[in-house]
Amino acid sequence: MGLFDLIPEEIPDGSFAMIEDFKTDSHDKKVNLSPGIYRDENAKTWVLPSVKQARVARVDQTFDHDISPQLGYPSLVSTAQQITFRDTLSTRVITSMQTIAGTGANHFIAQFLSETIQPKTVWLSAPSWENHPKIWGHVSSAIKQRTYPYYDYQTSTLDIEGMISTLRMDGSNGDVIVLQACAHNPTGLDPSRESWERIGQICEEKGIFPIFDSAYQGFATGDPYNDAWPIRHFATRSNGTMEFAVAQSFSKNFGLYGERIGALHIVTRNEESAGKVEAVLKKISRAEITSTPSFGAKIVATIFHKPELKEQWYKDLKTMSGRLGDMRKRLHDGLIQRNTPGNWGHLLTDVGMFSMMGLSQKQVAALRENFHVYLLPTGRLSFTGLTHKNVEYVADSIHHVITL
Ligand SMILES: Cc1ncc(COP(=O)(O)O)c(C=O)c1O
Repeated sequence: MGLFDLIPEEIPDGSFAMIEDFKTDSHDKKVNLSPGIYRDENAKTWVLPSVKQARVARVDQTFDHDISPQLGYPSLVSTAQQITFRDTLSTRVITSMQTIAGTGANHFIAQFLSETIQPKTVWLSAPSWENHPKIWGHVSSAIKQRTYPYYDYQTSTLDIEGMISTLRMDGSNGDVIVLQACAHNPTGLDPSRESWERIGQICEEKGIFPIFDSAYQGFATGDPYNDAWPIRHFATRSNGTMEFAVAQSFSKNFGLYGERIGALHIVTRNEESAGKVEAVLKKISRAEITSTPSFGAKIVATIFHKPELKEQWYKDLKTMSGRLGDMRKRLHDGLIQRNTPGNWGHLLTDVGMFSMMGLSQKQVAALRENFHVYLLPTGRLSFTGLTHKNVEYVADSIHHVITL
């Protein structure tokens, strides 16, 4: 018997398995509506024009491959702070580090909290990004994972009352809550500003430490600062005393998926805490990654520091969010025109890449088997896979599986 023969079977990751299945599907009308990766009108990965220009600008310089300091490439870290906190930056004490994309930022904050405040419970939205439970489970089996109501499947609206009352009843001092700053994955449904104020208040009342997962900044409204309003709101609440963290990804809003660029920000009350936070982050970083990727970091920093590239980036965000909005409208209209049973109004009011389509697992399987249209089994549809060419076919396919 081999040393590893008794390792229990692992269930393969659903999203990655689906990408592989899609590749081997030879049907000419196949459509992949599962990934959280922006695709252009030809269903191809899009290199942002701002990124293309920054690449040229960087190659012109003497481009070295030196190692970054322990907290990451300094210009990237300050750029990340400015994109996230803007005018509130100077009002708070913030410790920031570069991370291995958004996943790394989520992992780092989970690891950091499990080594420091040791929360008993982490609250995740129901539903949430499928990797949140995996990351927290990987970091610690001692931290209990609980879900708070978020999405009302009957009405396709935010269950803010359920969320607040659950946290009021069952939340405890020292718990942690993972919130998504904007363009919520998988529902496409964000709290209103008024709801964010209530979420901030319940966190303060109960002593729950909030983590903003900010993976889609710019995708909700096309304006990155508008999208980060909840973060700035938390930064200014109660005369700037709230402590919280932000796990930021540049994968989507700079289209740098493969470069693995992100940042973690921890907002503390005073310099003394910040010094301790920094020391723990450095310790974890040394043990886990030693140093951070620099190519993508230099691209992001270059874009942010060259006014013409920054303007182009703002345009790029509008291009991406605008195309997604257009596809939302086309799919919505296609389903309405076909009189497809269901509640479709939310496709127009949801934001970002995703919406829940309210399809059963059986209907999702039928879409794949009979029409070669791929969605996650939860019925989450990613609008990035839709184009002018395939949207009618997708509307037809959805209509068929619902009216079978
Ligand atoms: C909600 C959420 N957070 C974090 C991430 C992590 O993104 P990455 O590690 O690719 O930057 C994703 C990616 O799909 C996401 O949807």
